[in-house]
Amino acid sequence: MRLLLYTAGSDADAWIDALRHALPAARIEPWPGPAASAADYALVWKAPPELLRDLRRVKAVFNLGAGVDAIVGDPALPPEVCLVRLEDAGMAEQMAEYVCHAVLRRYREFDAYAQQQRAGLWQPRRRTSKRAFGVGILGLGALGTAVATALTPFGFPLRGWSRARKQIAGIATFAGASELDAFLSGACVLVCLLPLTRDTQGLLDRATLSQLPRDAYVVNVSRGALVVDQDLLALLDSGHIGGAMLDVFRDEPLPPEHRFWHHPRVALTPHISAVTQVDESVAQIADKIRRIEAGLPITGIVARERGY
Ligand code: NAP
Ligand code: GLV
Repeated sequence: MRLLLYTAGSDADAWIDALRHALPAARIEPWPGPAASAADYALVWKAPPELLRDLRRVKAVFNLGAGVDAIVGDPALPPEVCLVRLEDAGMAEQMAEYVCHAVLRRYREFDAYAQQQRAGLWQPRRRTSKRAFGVGILGLGALGTAVATALTPFGFPLRGWSRARKQIAGIATFAGASELDAFLSGACVLVCLLPLTRDTQGLLDRATLSQLPRDAYVVNVSRGALVVDQDLLALLDSGHIGGAMLDVFRDEPLPPEHRFWHHPRVALTPHISAVTQVDESVAQIADKIRRIEAGLPITGIVARERGY
């Protein structure tokens, strides 16, 4: 069996070692290298069109990330190819850590206390009622659900929004465009864990962000292009949005001149909220390859027309 590997320059040796260990009978062929058209499976991250174009006879293309926005709409990827994404694979725990930090940071007002410290001010702040501090999660997939589960013990009223309606104990669920405003109106913290698709691009603009309660906090850990930067900045400046913690951006690295860098109400990180884990990912992919070879169904197949 021939496995083609393209990691866009990151950690190829670690992937090769893990793949050799998990699938000892397979031939691992980094790209550029032997013709992609001879591969049985491809494992790729941000693959260029000249590689995708050649993947006509693979049984599956495994995307080395949860988000498939860099590949799903690429016209070079043959339409008949089965595209598979990572499902959690060690990312849900990281995402839960990041978002719990962001929610508690906001709820316990650590940014305000940091400011008070800089001003030499000893001044306990009035405690916010937890019952009035709704946390809303946009996207209730592998990561959104794990985040909701991790937040549950803290006792915030939780709500979630997805395309199809979900039933999750302890979470008020909302579905579809018609329920978005109702969902937003109760989210003092808004956590974005939606995939970037035609439908979600620019979803967080002035109109939607204005539906959040005054002083809401925005946590974007999915993709930068879900947010209209100028609209978020305008609402941060006006005070309607009280703060934001951003891990993802339209252009990465975030350009030095971007206002997010120095905005007093923005905390940012360089796309690290949930990083692909080589060992967990290879274990998941190897298991799926064994299932395909045995004629068994697999999960995580991307619905190409839906975009995720
Ligand atoms: P997933 O399992 O596919 O879940 C996606 C969720 O979004 C589903 O609940 C889906 O609804 C919902 N959704 C999609 N389109 C929608 C729409 N138009 N309206 C309402 N809901 C919609 O994805 P995941 O594994 O949780 O990952 C989510 C995203 O996180 C990825 O796509 C990626 O962009 C991002 N990510 C970021 C990092 C990072 O380090 N920052 C790391 C990993 C992933 P249904 O359940 O109804 O289908
Ligand atoms: C990272 O951003 C991913 O989509 O896995």
